[in-house]
Amino acid sequence: MTRLGVGICGLGTVGAGTFNLIRTNAAEISRKTGTSVVVAQVGCRRDNPACDLSGVNVTRDIFEVTRNPDVDVIVELIGGTDTALELVKEAIAHGKHVVTANKALIAVHGEEIFRLAGAAGVSVRFEAAIAGGIPIVKSIREGLAANRIEFVAGIINGTSNFILTEMESAGNRSFEQVLQEAQELGYAEADPTFDIEGIDAAHKLTILSSIAFGVPLHFEAMYTEGISNITPADIRYAGELGYRIKHLGITRRREDGIELRVHPTLVAKETLLAQVDGVMNAVLVGSDAAGKTMYYGAGAGAGPTASSVVGDIIDIMRDSSAVANLGFVPEAIQPMPVIGIESVRCCYYLRLRAHDKPGVLARISTILSQHNISIESLIQKDVRQGAAPIVIITDDVTESELDRALAELGSLEEVDDAITRIRVESF
Ligand code: HSE
Repeated sequence: MTRLGVGICGLGTVGAGTFNLIRTNAAEISRKTGTSVVVAQVGCRRDNPACDLSGVNVTRDIFEVTRNPDVDVIVELIGGTDTALELVKEAIAHGKHVVTANKALIAVHGEEIFRLAGAAGVSVRFEAAIAGGIPIVKSIREGLAANRIEFVAGIINGTSNFILTEMESAGNRSFEQVLQEAQELGYAEADPTFDIEGIDAAHKLTILSSIAFGVPLHFEAMYTEGISNITPADIRYAGELGYRIKHLGITRRREDGIELRVHPTLVAKETLLAQVDGVMNAVLVGSDAAGKTMYYGAGAGAGPTASSVVGDIIDIMRDSSAVANLGFVPEAIQPMPVIGIESVRCCYYLRLRAHDKPGVLARISTILSQHNISIESLIQKDVRQGAAPIVIITDDVTESELDRALAELGSLEEVDDAITRIRVESF
């Protein structure tokens, strides 16, 4: 039986999960590949009590792993983009294949890494970077390879989904308490603002968009909005109108370019995406031949993410080098304009606070209709101290037109200028 030596760099939640999975399922993996996978070396700042490292070659210098002749595949699980980039470049320079769970690294430096790996004749795999245990990269890149992809829409940050789910449930836990639980469970990023402000989802969507459409990695052009401004009241009102609020990453092919955006979104309660709760992730893919397909599973955590990491190691053993990193041969990757958020068209949830005076509702609806915005539904909540929240769902309109209408509404004497807007999508 042939042998494959794995060097694990980083022994946090995912590193420990990977180490343990390789050992636990060693026999099963050998049966599938005819190869014995061994952890040849672990590079980590400190041991992790979740792993029995007795007899394992452990070093505190992760770069030593890239030089170890017993290592065939480097598994980069240290996170971040500085040392991780250096490590991956070193690994490639030493002729090692690379498996990573690092979405920021791929979203920001992927093209450089793929170029270096191509020149060196080694593979770079990153299934674990997106949606933890869901094999979404493989599903789009390989399973749906026959299709022209039309859109990808997903709940791809478990921490945000967990917080939104908890905010909606009857529990009285604060945002901070829920976030702390996500951190204790090992779901949140080292810097949790990456989860809350949508940056983590933006990294993942950057990669999904390139795999879907064969476009360069466009992280810098992404429209990014997190969940920090969502209030329990918005969740409640959305519920009364038949929606749930989910943090979605959406990328869509249009004639004039691609949409690339992450933001909170109202989705109708009866849709599958609306029913994805807690730390679970789900990705809906629209394609011309297969139609809509949806992928659901744990988006983070030791076991699910290790499943994707080890799946990539197995792919390398099976020599999947013919599968291009982004699913399209590098010469066929073509830039497409990324459509600015101002030109995106969708329906909106609006919440504004207006004085309870005769004629206010009429003035609001006149301004909206002057901007060609139809009202699909409207509810006025309890009047308190002479003012009441008004919640409106509009028909579809471009963001720039909506901005003009909101500026006019905000300038009305009877309306507070802080108007909440949340996009509404149907797929
Ligand atoms: N912080 C990420 C999440 C971890 O919450 O989804 C998985 O990438």
